[in-house]
Amino acid sequence: MKNIFNFSVITLLTLSLFISCKDVPDGKEKSNTVISILYKEKYRPQFHFTPEAKWMNDPNGMYYYKGKYHLFYQFYPDSTVWGPMHWGHAESKNMINWDHLPIALYPDSLGLIFSGGAVVDLNNTSGFGTKENPPIVATFTHHNMAGEKAQTNDFQTQSIAYSLDEGTEWTKYEQNPVIPNTEKIKDFRDPKVVWHEKSKKWILALAAYDKVKFYSSPNLKDWSFISDFGIEGDTRLWECPDLFPITVEGSDEEKWVLIVSIQKDAPNGGTATSYFVGDFNGQEFNSDVKNQKWLDWGTDNYAFVTWNNIPENDGRILGIGWMSNWQYAQVVPTEKWRSAMTLPRELKLIKSNSDYNLLSNPVKEIQKLRQDSVSLGQLKIEEKYALQDSFSPSQFEMILNVNLKETTADSFGIELKNALGENLTITFDKSDSMLYVNRTNSSNNKFSEDFFKEKHYAPLNFENDELKIQLFVDASSLEIFIDDGQINFTDIFFPTEKFDQVSLFTKEGILNIKDSKIYSLKSILNKDIN
Ligand code: FRU
Repeated sequence: MKNIFNFSVITLLTLSLFISCKDVPDGKEKSNTVISILYKEKYRPQFHFTPEAKWMNDPNGMYYYKGKYHLFYQFYPDSTVWGPMHWGHAESKNMINWDHLPIALYPDSLGLIFSGGAVVDLNNTSGFGTKENPPIVATFTHHNMAGEKAQTNDFQTQSIAYSLDEGTEWTKYEQNPVIPNTEKIKDFRDPKVVWHEKSKKWILALAAYDKVKFYSSPNLKDWSFISDFGIEGDTRLWECPDLFPITVEGSDEEKWVLIVSIQKDAPNGGTATSYFVGDFNGQEFNSDVKNQKWLDWGTDNYAFVTWNNIPENDGRILGIGWMSNWQYAQVVPTEKWRSAMTLPRELKLIKSNSDYNLLSNPVKEIQKLRQDSVSLGQLKIEEKYALQDSFSPSQFEMILNVNLKETTADSFGIELKNALGENLTITFDKSDSMLYVNRTNSSNNKFSEDFFKEKHYAPLNFENDELKIQLFVDASSLEIFIDDGQINFTDIFFPTEKFDQVSLFTKEGILNIKDSKIYSLKSILNKDIN
């Protein structure tokens, strides 16, 4: 079977003089040997999921089964730019250390394999397996290139495949497609399924240009259209919907969340992930369309979707996003691979004054990566405070609890910098209640106009006594979580030389930090993380 190991091993054996054939053991070990060499490259994230080599975009088909989180992804094994899509595959016991597995789905006569989801069909409603050995059923879009060229407009259809061995081998259903494109909608894709307990049916959500269409099925094979959801007059392209129930924190109230990725005009340009909170009665999703919110204000969290089949005794809603943006994803200056996933995140729904908000925070498993910590304790900073001596400036977690009452500075923040004068600033601006991330000067290599165009923003609340900042920096990415996940911000960056200086700064006054900690984080290659 053709697989990613073969590709990586062949390429690397040719490139790396110091690996001889006999040193490369078989199976997963082989892959790990190769990865540990790959992981030394410039810009390679050390604690985020990346493909060993070549092009990756959206996360797909995620489920948890028999102690393992499965992650599939849009993958083109022949190039570092987008091309004929496959589903790459990896699995993990903790969402941190990943084993790379053979490609799960290859293009076929019906088309390329675009995004979608997967569910564990525990009751074998599909009949593909047995109750004792339930099938995993993946739903995906077949994208037919010939149809696209001929401009038939019905070249995207929905298909299924199943696996009886936890996700390694997949069989495509012989009666695909299960949802044909009868209305000839040019953008008709990314089917993701959830179980609706009250009606005992599967519900599939897919993106149909500027809206989401819902279908229901008793068996994952026969689908009936039930309703659609969109914003009248809004003609932005929607992608990768994800519908799921969620309980409001501290109550028994159940709501439904519909995540939708938007391919245009995100707050900071290009593509981003949004969500609606509403109700779903088995037929229709109802939500106030005026309340579309951004899951992440940064430019680099797209196609965020959740894992299926998280055990009840865990109960978390867990998801991951593609850490890039279609504006420049194909030209970022990584060489062997392109794109990483965000940190896996836990979503929680909170309600205040009848307004619902999704919080997203890094999953608690990430704390296992923490090693040495520097406790700066209480700090009063004026102008500048250099931090770099005690941790690796390109791989750390920083927690700052700012005492806002005692902070007189109009603005304060964190700067990453190198000796070439390239820098990136994260500014908390009290005067206009904003968070700004400025990467416009983060590299002298201006590989994309859009990437460097302007600083990015997110609205912040400075009304509380305290501002909690959690920042992760990993080689070429930053993720900021404010006030326990109220605001998320993910941006990538590519300095020509590593940022080796980190400092805190203020403008016009004092920054009062109540408590602070910086952790060095282990690489996820480190397999002793439990
Ligand atoms: C989102 C997307 C999906 C599509 C896939 C193709 O990033 O455009 O809508 O299925 O990528 O790779």
